Amino acid sequence: MLEVINVKVKYKSRRGVIEALRGVSLRLNNPLLVAVIGPSGSGKTTLLKAIAGRIPYEGSIKVMGLEVKDNKRKMDELVFYLPVGEVLINDLTVNESVELASMSNHGGSVSVGSLLEWLGLSNLGNRRIIELSTGEKRRVELTVALIKGRRVILIDEPTVGLDEDNARRVGELLKAASRQGRLVIVATHDPILLEYSDLVYGMRDGLLHLYL
Ligand SMILES: Nc1ncnc2c1ncn2[C@@H]1O[C@H](COP(=O)(O)OP(=O)(O)O)[C@@H](O)[C@H]1O
Ligand SMILES: [Mg+2]
Repeated sequence: MLEVINVKVKYKSRRGVIEALRGVSLRLNNPLLVAVIGPSGSGKTTLLKAIAGRIPYEGSIKVMGLEVKDNKRKMDELVFYLPVGEVLINDLTVNESVELASMSNHGGSVSVGSLLEWLGLSNLGNRRIIELSTGEKRRVELTVALIKGRRVILIDEPTVGLDEDNARRVGELLKAASRQGRLVIVATHDPILLEYSDLVYGMRDGLLHLYL
């Protein structure tokens, strides 16, 4: 599903060139929930962005056998990337956000109603996103990610700002997504999320190591 070979990413800034990834390799052929942990600035976000095709990289990244940088449009159907913070349009209601997501669903087979119910969101359908709590908002974001039906789901800090109950719901949701055949990779600091992960990698100074 995902093959990363000797990937390097450099950022040019006024301070000079920063090598954020210094030769990362990773091969994941099964749908799993994978966590990447590591100190701030170690390169976690950069790795997710590179896999999502959002930034230039050296080396090779293949999703479902396709080189990411040469197949950007195809990647929109295969990879879902959720950056830290907002992706939702605050003016839409929960139902409208979910409907919007189903329009760009490429062959996924998730029932919108049952997913919302399972997440405890059914009664929030007519609420606008801006009126939700952080935990509710995060769950709607994840619902949107799942409905979009991508094979690879990359989420940056999925539980940031959530209390333990909400963090556990997110953990269960991500685990369920992996059991439905998606490869889910999260960048996180959250020990709760690690309990749900099948594999944990540690990132340090732009290098990735198997951790657990
Ligand atoms: N757009 C950017 N321009 C310049 N440097 C960046 C940029 N984004 C990240 N960096 C640098 O790259 C390194 C890795 O950052 P990042 O991938 O965001 O780490 P993490 O997500 O683990 O906190 C850090 O040194 C950071 O300052
Ligand atoms: Mg980050």
